[in-house]
Amino acid sequence: MCGIVGIIGGSDVAPRLIEGLKRLEYRGYDSGGIAALANGGIERRRAKGKIIELETRVREDPVRGAIGIGHTRWATHGVPNEANAHPHANDRVAVVHNGIIENFQVLRRDLLDDGHVFASDTDTEVVVHLISQEIAEGVEPIEATRRALTRLEGAFALGILLRDREDVLIAARQGSPLAIGHGDGEMYLGSDALALAPMTRRITYLEDGDWALLTRDGATIRDLDGRDVERPEHLTGLSGAMIGKGGHRHFMAKEIFEQPQVIGDTLNAMFNPANRTITLPDLPFDLATVPRIVMVACGTASLAGMVGKYWMERLAGVPVEWDVASEFRYRAPMMADGGLAVFISQSGETADTLAALRYCKEHGQHCLAVVNAPESTIAREAHSVLPTLAGPEIGVASTKAFTTQLVVLACLTIALGRARGTLGRAEEARLCTALSEVPSRAAEVLHHAERIRAIAQETVAPARDVLFLGRGTSYPLALEGALKLKEISYIHAEGYAAGEMKHGPIALIDENFPVVVIAPSDGAFDKTASNLQEVVARGGRGIVLTDPEGVARLGALTPDVIALPAVDPFVAPILHAIPLQLLAYHTAVEKGTDVDQPRNLAKAVTVE
Ligand code: M6R
Repeated sequence: MCGIVGIIGGSDVAPRLIEGLKRLEYRGYDSGGIAALANGGIERRRAKGKIIELETRVREDPVRGAIGIGHTRWATHGVPNEANAHPHANDRVAVVHNGIIENFQVLRRDLLDDGHVFASDTDTEVVVHLISQEIAEGVEPIEATRRALTRLEGAFALGILLRDREDVLIAARQGSPLAIGHGDGEMYLGSDALALAPMTRRITYLEDGDWALLTRDGATIRDLDGRDVERPEHLTGLSGAMIGKGGHRHFMAKEIFEQPQVIGDTLNAMFNPANRTITLPDLPFDLATVPRIVMVACGTASLAGMVGKYWMERLAGVPVEWDVASEFRYRAPMMADGGLAVFISQSGETADTLAALRYCKEHGQHCLAVVNAPESTIAREAHSVLPTLAGPEIGVASTKAFTTQLVVLACLTIALGRARGTLGRAEEARLCTALSEVPSRAAEVLHHAERIRAIAQETVAPARDVLFLGRGTSYPLALEGALKLKEISYIHAEGYAAGEMKHGPIALIDENFPVVVIAPSDGAFDKTASNLQEVVARGGRGIVLTDPEGVARLGALTPDVIALPAVDPFVAPILHAIPLQLLAYHTAVEKGTDVDQPRNLAKAVTVE
C-alpha cells in the first residue's frame, strides 16, 4: 500500500510526480503529496483525498524544483488527513514511505525526550527526525541518513530528500517494493515500474537491505554497512500509456467484460488445440513425484487456490493444504520434503504472500508463483512462474485476475493428473475441450448482465446482509461472491458451505435476507437444492446461479434464477465467478459507492 515516486532531473519535476502518482493510485488513495527542493529549501504540497485534489492544490500553488518526491497514501498510522499525508518534512529533510516502521513508538519516545516536536500521528515521521538529529550533531547528511536507516525495524520503502544535497535523491528498501528508473541525465524512483513507464523502461529493482544514492547520472546501490552492491538493470515490458476504461463507466466493468479475451489468452499459452493437451513451461521439479502441495495466497487469490485444491485432490490425487498467507506463515505448518508450494497473486507484491513464499523457500519447498505482474517481487523470487495473462487490473476488486488464476490452476491440475497417472489420455482431452470452450461460454454469461443488474437493484442493494452458499468448488465461489459484494457495495455478506447453513446462519433468514445459491447441475446439485428449499421455506429470497438442467430441476422454487451455459462441472467455477462479479458491481453502482477505489482498500497490500 502507498505509492512512492521520485525524480532527480533537469527541469521542474512536479507535473511528472503527479502523473506518476496517478499511475500508483491503485496502491492507496486517501491523501497525496509532493515535495521538491527549490531556492535552497523544501517546498511541499499535500491534500486529503485522491490525487486529483493534490493536482488542484499544486495548480493553485505551483511547486518548482528539479528534484522531488511524491506519495499516495493508504493510512496505517493516523487518520487520512493532510497532517498525516506524506511527504513528512522539516526544514532539512523530506521523506515518503511505504510500509510500517514497527519500532516507531520507541524511536518516537526517545526523540520526544530529546525535544523533537511531531506534526503527525504517523510512524514515518520518526525518519525525518532521526536524520535531522544526526545532521544537527554534525554528521554529513548522507551518512546521517545511513545511520538513521540502521535504526529502523519493520517494512519500508523510502524516498528521501535532503535540503543540502540537491544533487542526490536517496532510496531505501526493506520489505516493501521499490524500483529505480534510469533516464538520460535524469534518474527516477517508483514503487513499481508502471509508475515510471512513461519516463523510462530501464529499471533496477532494489532488494531488501539496499539503499541507493541517485544522482542525475546514475545510481550507487549499497548495503547498510556502506558496501556497494550490484543489481541488474531490466527492460520493463510495461507500457507508458495511461490505461483507459474502454468506454465503460468503471475499470471493474471493463475488466469483467475483458474476461472472454484474457481467459483465452491465458489458456492459449498452455493449451495445444491440435491434440487437446496441456503443456506447462519447463518446471524445475517433477509433477509426478511431488508428495504434497501447499496453496497459499490472500483474499480473492486465496479463493482461486481453494478451487485449485478441490480440483487437484479430486483429479490428480495429490494432497493439497490450503491456507491464507497471514495464517500459514505463523502456524508452523507441516511441509513435506521436496513438496510444492503454490503462491497466487495478481500484484505479486502482497506482503503476507511474499513472506509465506520466503518461508517455504527456507523450508525446502519448490516455490511456484501464479502471478499477473511478471516483474513483481513474488515473480522474481519464486523458483518458477505460471503467468496469468489478464493484463493490468486497475479496479480494486479482483475480477479477471481471479478467472485467469483459475485457468492456470486448471491447467496445472491437468498436468499433475497426467504426470501422476490419475488422468488418462481421453480424460485429459475431455477436460481440455471443456477448458477451450470457456472463453466463448464466458461471453455468453456476459449476456446476462442486464438481468443481473435488475436483481442487484431490486433484491440485493436494499438488503443489509446477504448470504452466499455453495458446495464443492462452488463453496470457494460463495466465499468469493461474498467478498466481492462487501468490498465494493459495503453490504455485509457471508459465504458459507451450503451444508453448513443449518448449523447457524439459517437463524438469520427472513424475507429481507437474500441468499445467493451457486448450484451448477453437478453431483452436489440435489443437496444444494435442498438447502435452497430450506431458505425459501423460511421466507428467504433465493437468487440461484445454475444452468439449463438446474433450471428444469428447480421448477418454480424461486423467481430469481440465472441459467448459465451448460458446461462440464470442471470449468463451472470459472463461469460462475462472472455473474457474482456482475452482481457485486451492479449493487455497488446502485448504491453509489466508489466502485474502482472502495473505501479503506488498496489494490496491492504491501503491509502485513
Ligand atoms: O495482488 P494479490 O492477488 O496478491 O491480492 C490479494 C488480495 O489482496 C486481493 O485479491 C483482494 O482480496 C481483492 N481486493 C479482492 O477483490
